[in-house]
Amino acid sequence: MAEKHFKYVILGGGVSAGYAAREFSKHGLQPGELALISKEAVAPYERPALSKAYLFPEGTARLPGFHCCVGGGGERLLPEWYSEKGIELVLSTEIVKADLFSKSLTSAAGEIFKFDNLIIATGSTVIKLTDFGVKGADAKNIFYLREIDDADKLVEVIKAKKNGKAVVVGGGYIGLELSAALKINDLDVNMVYPEPWCMPRLFTADIAKFYEGYYTNKGINIIKGTVAVGFGSNDNGEVKEVHLKDGRVLEADIVVVGVGGRPLTTLFKGQVDEEKGGIKTDAFFKTSVPDVYAVGDVATFPMKLYGDIRRVEHVDHARKSAEQAVKAIKASEEGKSIEEYDYLPYFYSRSFDLSWQFYGDNVGETVVFGDNDPASSPHKFGTYWVKDGKVIGAFLESGTPEENKAIAKVARVQPAAESLNQLSKEGLGFASKI
Ligand code: FDA
Ligand code: NAD
Repeated sequence: MAEKHFKYVILGGGVSAGYAAREFSKHGLQPGELALISKEAVAPYERPALSKAYLFPEGTARLPGFHCCVGGGGERLLPEWYSEKGIELVLSTEIVKADLFSKSLTSAAGEIFKFDNLIIATGSTVIKLTDFGVKGADAKNIFYLREIDDADKLVEVIKAKKNGKAVVVGGGYIGLELSAALKINDLDVNMVYPEPWCMPRLFTADIAKFYEGYYTNKGINIIKGTVAVGFGSNDNGEVKEVHLKDGRVLEADIVVVGVGGRPLTTLFKGQVDEEKGGIKTDAFFKTSVPDVYAVGDVATFPMKLYGDIRRVEHVDHARKSAEQAVKAIKASEEGKSIEEYDYLPYFYSRSFDLSWQFYGDNVGETVVFGDNDPASSPHKFGTYWVKDGKVIGAFLESGTPEENKAIAKVARVQPAAESLNQLSKEGLGFASKI
């Protein structure tokens, strides 16, 4: 079988991969030095579009419109860009074996890719209900969303089941964004999740109350405190019923499941240090194996701001970690050093006419400011997280770019707060004066 050798290989074709390729090119690349290997059939794109504009009935996003790096406000890297730069874009190619010590990757078709430096950017995969043996979970029209092929299947079924019934399993990012997308497409939507409120990883009960109220007003039926324990299907094997643990049965033409992701680290098990479910790196995304880096969803890295180590499954970190790793590789070649990664967590989501941003850490006491009544307009409200007398996290719905900048600054600067009461009264004014 063919064997190829590259100075740099990026394994993965998602967000981090796209931003890493651009960073290599900024530093100057010789043709043939870099290969990007992806099991997807398309060049790297901005994954967040898949749960948003990709599914809209109007104003739909399609490739090549959202190739990396448009999401970060940069140049759109079309497939031609890679060939112009002499970067080998190896698509529809799954790596099934990685030997980090002999610096070799093997594809499902048996091709061998040798590397001097490797960036692992394999991202996450979805957790499936079949993984826990949920009865009937392999029925047709039960969908997950991770890659563009999944989104295409969803687009097709949304058209085929016009005005039908959808059940969304999971109350996290996918659950909230997909429930909205299905509703916008005029499906009848039930949303089911086990927790007492949606997005418990980040939202407080007060924040969730707004989104649950807003979704309910849009006609989405929310069922909390229970899980799907089985699915019934028709003679064609298509899902028709969702059986809940509390005994209720929901009708369904489409089921969308978003019950979390799992970082794709299996190829490297036993070869590299792992921690918190990811590949352990230093502040330059260097792993325990020489010349091997890990970025994006798979990396467990030092969070300098909080003095601990974390894994982050969001796009801003995917972009920034990729750039940091490439800068570190290039600097080490030149015998130079660069600053440690000093990341400020930034998460966001959009659905209907809503749009929120969060910066910092969501620990400590919380205080709400603004108007979080889902019936009122323009839905401007937020939350500060306060720990040891300092504001360390901030959330804002419907902020202007300046207001979002202000809450980001608060989370970075961590100013002292007199009292929760004062923060509640001052609201955005507190952030704006920092
Ligand atoms: P990413 O998943 O982007 O890429 C991994 C790539 O590696 C894929 O191309 C995959 O096919 C490839 N790969 C894996 N194993 C391979 C193998 N063995 N061989 C070859 N190729 C392999 N975040 C946010 O902050 N705001 C948002 O709005 C959203 N929205 C959003 C929507 C949807 C639908 C998803 C699934 C995720 C988001 N996210 C998000 C999260 C964000 O997209 C995510 O954190 C980044 O895409 C992570 O980037 P990575 O490059 O690490 O993985
Ligand atoms: P998530 O972790 O955000 O949410 C999973 C949800 O499923 C949780 O509410 C959880 O309690 C619930 N759940 C778990 N088991 C369940 C069960 N058996 N039945 C019903 N509910 C169950 O994960 P996700 O929403 O699946 O997202 C997957 C990945 O995609 C994550 O990495 C996420 O960060 C990323 N993503 C991010 C964004 C964004 O940042 N805006 C948007 C979409 C996806």
